[in-house]
Amino acid sequence: MRLLVAGGAGFIGSEFVRQTVQTHPEDSVVVLDKLTYAGNLRNLDAVAGDARFRFAHGDICDADIVGRLAAEVDAIVNFAAESHVDRSLEAPGQFIQTDVYGTFVLLDAARRAEHSCFLQVSTDEVYGDIAVGHSSEADALRPRSPYSASKAGGEMMAWAYRESYGVPVITTRGSNTYGPYQYPEKIIPLFITNAIDDQPLPIYGDGGAVRDYLHVTDHVRGIDTALRRGVPGEDYNIGYGGETNGHQVADLVLGALGKPDTLKQHVRDRLGHDRRYAVDTRKLRALGWAPEVALDEGIRRTAHWYRDNEAWWRPLKSGEFWEFYSRNYQPLSPTRATGP
Ligand code: NAD
Ligand code: DAU
Repeated sequence: MRLLVAGGAGFIGSEFVRQTVQTHPEDSVVVLDKLTYAGNLRNLDAVAGDARFRFAHGDICDADIVGRLAAEVDAIVNFAAESHVDRSLEAPGQFIQTDVYGTFVLLDAARRAEHSCFLQVSTDEVYGDIAVGHSSEADALRPRSPYSASKAGGEMMAWAYRESYGVPVITTRGSNTYGPYQYPEKIIPLFITNAIDDQPLPIYGDGGAVRDYLHVTDHVRGIDTALRRGVPGEDYNIGYGGETNGHQVADLVLGALGKPDTLKQHVRDRLGHDRRYAVDTRKLRALGWAPEVALDEGIRRTAHWYRDNEAWWRPLKSGEFWEFYSRNYQPLSPTRATGP
């Protein structure tokens, strides 16, 4: 397959590119990425010299560049998005632009190019908070944050292109993902890099909200399974199957790095904080996929990767990063939650 990978310079997209180039020698990959604050060309160093890989700098909202690249490939895999819930609460507009309008531009190009597949990378957050049980693919979407609403909007556009024009859309809904090369604003890389620097680990509210943390290699194998073995028109959940709260994440990170419990700090809760997500993954498992990385082992390996790769993340924790940090984090205790 010749693939156009939108958002391939980000955290999960770059792992998809690395895995594809390594495990599918017959495939070629063109990455289209705007290189926002979350995009990083260094994430693609491992494939930069490969003849089957090419990078194009651009915006998925730009129909000209998208149309040109779409004409050269057989399928699109769309990772491109604004992806951080807290930033969506502060400034939702860019989320709607990229996650909804940008997805429309990609779908329209896929329709014109008569592609064999359009894989939309979505999220378990589209189901909204669920108190008990597990969300299955047939459940209603009840997003509760600007981020998850924008991702649900992207899915709706994909459904519309599937129903109206027959674009062969497959959607994946992955759970909270962690691993190397993740921009250090999400809980696991933030806690790891703060702990390395003996800075407080800011836990929202009572620290009781749970997530189903999934290692990035498992998430990407799930996307690859859906792309190659999934049925066009179907949606697939991807999750590890765990329920881990903020306190437990902090404990795992501190344990992996040998740092003290006193680094835990409670801060003001996220607005509209979803308390729990949990997905039923039987549909993807029926295609032969299963997660392989245990959470404690995955966090330990990830913590050690950040410890050993400071040159990758230290430049990212500067300037705008700390401006956002000081706006977002309001300490509940006298200790300030600001960075240097
Ligand atoms: P990320 O923020 O690390 O990367 C997003 C990438 O998209 C960046 O390289 C960025 O430069 C690029 N991008 C943003 N806007 C763009 C635009 N307008 N045009 C072109 N490129 C643009 O995100 P991630 O964590 O790798 O997530 C990738 C996808 O997976 C997203 O769609 C996200 O919603 C979804 N997802 C993420 C998680 C998670 O826990 N991180 C879980 C489930 C689903
Ligand atoms: O579930 C999939 C989603 O997972 C993806 O769609 C999103 O792109 C991704 O960012 C992630 O969203 P979350 O909101 O779950 O991730 P985040 O790391 O921001 O928060 C995880 C949990 O940790 C959540 O309950 C909020 C809490 N938290 C987060 C941060 C950043 C803290 O307690 N402190 C923090 O500093």
